[in-house]
Amino acid sequence: MADSSASTSASAADRAKPRVLSGVQPSGRLHLGNYFGALRHFVPLQDSHDTFYCVVDLHAITVHQNAEELREAIYETAAAFLASGLRPDAAVLFNQSRVAAHSQLAWMFNCVARLGWLERMTQFKDKTASHRERASAGLYVYPTLMAADILCYRAGFVPVGEDQRQHLELTRDIAEKFNHDWCGGEEYFPLPEPLISQDAARIMSLRDGTKKMSKSDASDAACIYLSDDADTIASKLRKAKSDSEPLPGSETLDSQGRPRAGVRDARPEAWNLLGIWQAASGATWAETIERFAGKGFAQLKESLTEAVVAEVVPLGREINRHMADRGELERILADGAGRAEAVATPIVRGAAERMGLLL
Ligand code: AMP
Ligand code: TRP
Repeated sequence: MADSSASTSASAADRAKPRVLSGVQPSGRLHLGNYFGALRHFVPLQDSHDTFYCVVDLHAITVHQNAEELREAIYETAAAFLASGLRPDAAVLFNQSRVAAHSQLAWMFNCVARLGWLERMTQFKDKTASHRERASAGLYVYPTLMAADILCYRAGFVPVGEDQRQHLELTRDIAEKFNHDWCGGEEYFPLPEPLISQDAARIMSLRDGTKKMSKSDASDAACIYLSDDADTIASKLRKAKSDSEPLPGSETLDSQGRPRAGVRDARPEAWNLLGIWQAASGATWAETIERFAGKGFAQLKESLTEAVVAEVVPLGREINRHMADRGELERILADGAGRAEAVATPIVRGAAERMGLLL
């Protein structure tokens, strides 16, 4: 871990690099979608950008949690950051609740965001479809806290999965309105860009190719967790939903070698499994299609099992290794929170000042 003099000199050098922030909820059960859609993309950025990665524990409590399990899950998510290859001397790793600036800015943003904007958020609608009246107020304002996470560092880039695009658009709307309403149009907050990888940005459920892979799926077999062992992965992939046709050929790709518009929707399960194989193997779409064109699902599932086991099993092992040293995880999170706070506090204070607050 970096000592304080090392992190001071690193931050001086980092000032010239574009800033990145992303967050992952401490669900305790990170899955293949989290890894391919987000975590894996965090790693190369730590050397080219000034990176902040946080475990968003305040977002987790928008739905009820068991306190003991939440604490474990915060450490486990931090362990997954490390297992994926993030280095605490290169990236700032911390948990959100420890840096008060996030909550302070979130409140200011609650007063900037309009109800109409929040009403349009599809994630809130999806999560509360049948029980809106009983959802927490926190779940409703979840995106304003996410905007604060990003803007309290003035981050310009946010690596996320496709499902977070709408929240990023809201973040830009909030930044723009804040700049307009409180700063006379000066760009106090930059408008951040999402970094959404073209491939594997959306890993779908193994039981229903039209739904995203999610820890909240009712069926355990829908989701491959980073903690799954080789047998569990093999059995989930064997049972994965398929269709009755041979796998698609090269006519389904466009001139740039990407799936043509609409082809995925016609066979969601086939394209999801092909997409996972592609993400796990590092192949291009053209290579992927060439390898499996005209073959049956059995062959795809067999190679898929091999590729996914090779990615996930070592990750799970590394997560366990980091979890065994709680003291070290705690030191990393505490050090990261200190470095995060040093950046965020002056930015939030400046915003408070623009609003006439005496923070
Ligand atoms: P969450 O666990 O909801 O905090 O998500 C953490 C990160 O994983 C976010 O960047 C999400 O966009 C990404 N993510 C979650 N589920 C999926 C999925 N099924 N496919 C791709 N990315 C995902
Ligand atoms: N809302 C994100 C998700 O569910 C997690 C998140 C919270 C986040 N704050 C963020 C992602 C800031 C990127 C930047 O996946």
